[in-house]
Amino acid sequence: MNPDKKIAFEQILELRSAIIHHDYLYYVLAEPEISDQQYDALMRQLIELETAWSDLITPDSPTQRVGGAPVSSFEQVRHSAPMLSLGNCYNVDELRDFDRRVKELYENEPEYVCELKIDGVSATLTYRNRTLTQGATRGDGQVGDDITTNIRTIRSIPLSVSDKMPSDFEVRGEVYFPSDEFEKMNAQRISDGQKPFMNPRNGAAGTLKMLDPHEVTKRPLRFFAYTLLSDDIDLESQAGVLETLKRGIFPTNPNWELCRGLSEVEAYLNRWNEARNELSYETDGVVIKLNDIRAWNKIGSTAKSPRWATAYKFSAENVVTQLLDVTWQVGRTGAVTPVAELKPVLLSGTVVKRATLHNEDEIARLGVKIRDSVEIEKGGEIIPKVIRFIAEERPVNAEVIVVPSKCPECETPLVNDQEEVVSRCPNWQCPAQVKGRISHFASRGAMDIDGLGSKTVEMIVSAGLVNDAGDLYSLTVSQVENLDRMAELSANNLIKGIEASKTKSFDRLLFGLGIRHVGKGAARVIAECYPDLDALSQANPDDLQTIPEIGEIIAQSIKDFFQFPPSIELIDKLKAAGITGKQDEAVSIPQTLAGKSFVLTGALENFTRDSASEAIRERGGRVVSSVSKKTDYVVVGANPGSKYDKENKLGVVVVNERGFIELLNN
Ligand code: IVH
Repeated sequence: MNPDKKIAFEQILELRSAIIHHDYLYYVLAEPEISDQQYDALMRQLIELETAWSDLITPDSPTQRVGGAPVSSFEQVRHSAPMLSLGNCYNVDELRDFDRRVKELYENEPEYVCELKIDGVSATLTYRNRTLTQGATRGDGQVGDDITTNIRTIRSIPLSVSDKMPSDFEVRGEVYFPSDEFEKMNAQRISDGQKPFMNPRNGAAGTLKMLDPHEVTKRPLRFFAYTLLSDDIDLESQAGVLETLKRGIFPTNPNWELCRGLSEVEAYLNRWNEARNELSYETDGVVIKLNDIRAWNKIGSTAKSPRWATAYKFSAENVVTQLLDVTWQVGRTGAVTPVAELKPVLLSGTVVKRATLHNEDEIARLGVKIRDSVEIEKGGEIIPKVIRFIAEERPVNAEVIVVPSKCPECETPLVNDQEEVVSRCPNWQCPAQVKGRISHFASRGAMDIDGLGSKTVEMIVSAGLVNDAGDLYSLTVSQVENLDRMAELSANNLIKGIEASKTKSFDRLLFGLGIRHVGKGAARVIAECYPDLDALSQANPDDLQTIPEIGEIIAQSIKDFFQFPPSIELIDKLKAAGITGKQDEAVSIPQTLAGKSFVLTGALENFTRDSASEAIRERGGRVVSSVSKKTDYVVVGANPGSKYDKENKLGVVVVNERGFIELLNN
């Protein structure tokens, strides 16, 4: 090798190992040590050297993660060993049955490894000579799609490994979408006019199916490894596998535990059933595996799933009840959505009479009919949902669910919004929409008007006292105190509450206006750039789009709003009441937390997650989802999640709720 080339070669090796190290710190440990700019500079230097000395490029260089042109379809690959799925347990009794069966076959006291069940898409990665050669989906368990080019874009997956790993092996695990990235992507999709993904799992599956690896790079997928297959090492235990994978610099989920006996397993389940809400990714249960790998063969598998492992599903609270009817609800945007009216049933300790059916597509997907027995589930959401009907119990008089052609509130013929698979009532004056818009304006995340819940809105709209949110500000005590069920005291409170809302911040006002596609996040960024309603109403869509979070759809929607006669009327009324969005310097809050970043974990007594975040932001601080070196404070409530364990190592200040309140008041 000539001397120049030799120097270049050494620099290339050094840069590669630095980049791989920083990828590991960032993507696997979530503890970055350098800034994005510093990282980009390393990458640039490497690209420059590799461009000058192209014969030194190797496929495992970090510059080679995205390669090749889009493909037209994926090749099929047969798995070296079937990729099984898992049997499910929905309650502790079923778990005890599993444990009993294991004990019979194992003829020993079993130790179990409990792992979080990551709600993603399983994939298998093949390494030959310690280099990643293939990535494939599960497919039907025997044959999957070769998605190597897409897998290579996932930065936490090593393209080559050290001799801590055997030469030839296969790693299996879950590809998933981190929750915050998922939300960002969906917001972007909405602003680009695309249909959002239902959940992070669909997002991950949809991404892995994309044919152009350049598109996949834009979607920051992650990976957790949990299975290792290799003829070259003796794998004794699942705990050992997880440790080997971790040493081999594979990302593994840190929250696994070795449990001796079922009571330790149950404690793990209970703990994570709560703490999972604090994670930065979704988990839908716990996988319980017999730790002793050498016994797996003897215990064996059914055609679909192993007998030495099971999945415990968190949403264990599923019940079957009867679908009595489907009613159609008209929202503030006119969207008409189906609601399942159920025979009342106890679920997670509350009586449930209604559940959501989402939209017309969902009804078609479920194939459900009126009078069917349906299984309902309470997931993370507050409103339970119908997840399936019980085919064996379908009565002969089951009735097809008919989508109405007229608005159930005002009888205006509905129009079909093709793109959003929803029927809409086009009548702006539809009473359901009028009430919905006012309720939204008064809601907690918007103007937060005390005393103005949906029942009161119903009353004042039906009495003809208000027609839009602007009318609220000319309401008088004498007008409302005569309404049914409105005593003088609450009439007074209502008017006071309305008056007090006049000084709410511009982002709240903006969100409260209910402009299509302008959610809380968009309202916040817009309010940072425009001081008040007047300024915003003058903005043209191009100006608006210079805000990074604002795309064409949101910008156009804002413009349309300010030109729509009923909104012009609303804004005139608001202005007449002195509401312009402009913040009086005197009422604005001192920026005592400017530049500070916070992580919230666990439940607080005096705050919801939203209100705590808002209190921080109002004072100039930021709320981030996971702890890193850049985090200043971790606020720890009851039952803190895993975020809590990390910060001590990082020297972050930990405060409890009292300390947090002191920080806010300082
Ligand atoms: S072990 C034979 N461990 O759940 C056992 N699976 O219904 C193979 N999953 O197809 C799977 N997290 O996609 C295992 N920690 C974990 C998992 C996990 C998520 C998924 C995986 C599998 C499905 C089983």
